[in-house]
Amino acid sequence: MAANPQPPPATDAGTVRAWCPGRVTLIGDHTDYAEGVSLALAVDLGTEVTLAGDPAAASVACTSDAAPGSAAIDLDVPLDPQALRAMQPAWTRYVAAVVATVRPPVGGRAAVRSSLPVGAGLSSSASLCVAAALAFGLEGDPLTVARTCQRAEQAATGVDVGLLDPWALTAATPGAACLLDFRTGLARTVPMPADAEVVVVHSGQQRSLDRSGYQARRAECDAAAYRLGPLGHVEPEAVLGLPDPVLRRRARHVVTECDRVRWFVEALDRHDLAEAGRLMLASHRSLADDFEVSTPVLDGLVARLSAMPGVHGARLTGAGFGGCVVALAEPGAIDFRELRGPAWRVSAAGGARLVTAGDAPDGDAPRPTGERG
Ligand code: GLA
Repeated sequence: MAANPQPPPATDAGTVRAWCPGRVTLIGDHTDYAEGVSLALAVDLGTEVTLAGDPAAASVACTSDAAPGSAAIDLDVPLDPQALRAMQPAWTRYVAAVVATVRPPVGGRAAVRSSLPVGAGLSSSASLCVAAALAFGLEGDPLTVARTCQRAEQAATGVDVGLLDPWALTAATPGAACLLDFRTGLARTVPMPADAEVVVVHSGQQRSLDRSGYQARRAECDAAAYRLGPLGHVEPEAVLGLPDPVLRRRARHVVTECDRVRWFVEALDRHDLAEAGRLMLASHRSLADDFEVSTPVLDGLVARLSAMPGVHGARLTGAGFGGCVVALAEPGAIDFRELRGPAWRVSAAGGARLVTAGDAPDGDAPRPTGERG
C-alpha cells in the first residue's frame, strides 16, 4: 500500500487518535545504518497523539502533557531542516517535520501524551513521529511508514538516524520481539520466553542524539564500509584489513554485534536464557570498548544488574552516551528498591496503530502499563 496521506477516518467528533509504543533494543545497536540486523522489542510505554480535525484550520496547534510549550504549525510548513531545528520548544520540531513529510489534509488541534522518558534511548522521538504521522493520516505497510518517519526525524534533528526505531515501532507484534534485517527489509517475529522478564533501568544520564557522538560513529562506519562494503555482511577477518585502528574497532563492533543478534535469536529459540544473557553482556562490552558509546554510569549499572541472582544479562540499549540499560531476568529477580533511578518492567507491545473506541480498555486510549520501580 502506498504511504499517501489519506483523509482521517470520519468520526463523530472528527477526532483521530493514534498510539505508538517505545522500543528497547534487546541486542543489535548501531547495526541498522550498516545494513545489519537488530532484535527490538516494542514496549508498553508510548506516545499518543490525538488530532481534533478542523477542515477550516490552516495549521495544527499542538500541545503536550509531557513537555511545556505549544506551537501552531502551518500545513504547508517547508521540510527545511535548518528552520525546523530553530523551532522552540524542541519537541514541536518533530511534529512540524511530520506535518511537512505527511502533509495532513486537515489542520486542527493535536494533543500529545507520552509515558516515555525523553533522551533515554527508548525512541521517544521516533514514537512521537510515528504517532503523529498516523494521526495525520499516513497509511502504508510498516516499512513504508517507518521510512517516512525516519525522514521526518532526520529533518527534525539534523542527525542521520537509521531505520531501527520507527521500523521497530511499526512492525511489532504483541508478546514478541522483532528481528529486523536492514539489508533485506524483512522483519521476523521472535516470541519472548514466558519465564523471563525484561527490565529497563534509567541511568539518570540524559542524552540527545544531536549533541552526542552518533553522527561521528556513523561517519566512521561509512568510512569503514567504503573499504569493506556494508559492515552488516562482511566477514570478521575482513575487518583486520582496515589500517586505521579506530575504524577497525568500530567495524569490529558492527560485525560481531550482527553475529550476536543471530546467536541471541537462536538461544531464545532453544530457550537458552543463560547464553542469551552472556550475549547481552558481550554486546555491552563491544559497545563500550570498540564502539565507545557507553559511560561509566552505564557500565556500573550493567555490572550491578548482571551480578544480581536470577539476572541473565544486561546491556545499554539504544544509541548509548547515557540513557537506559536493559536486563533479561527471571521474573521478580530484580529488586526495584535497589535501583536508584526510574525502572520499568516492560512487556512486548503491539505496533503503532490508530485507536478506535473499542480498542482500548475503558474506551480510552491504551494506557502505558510499564511498571515503574
Ligand atoms: C538511535 C538511532 C537508531 C539506531 C540506534 C542505535 O536510536 O535512531 O537508528 O542507530 O540509535 O542502535
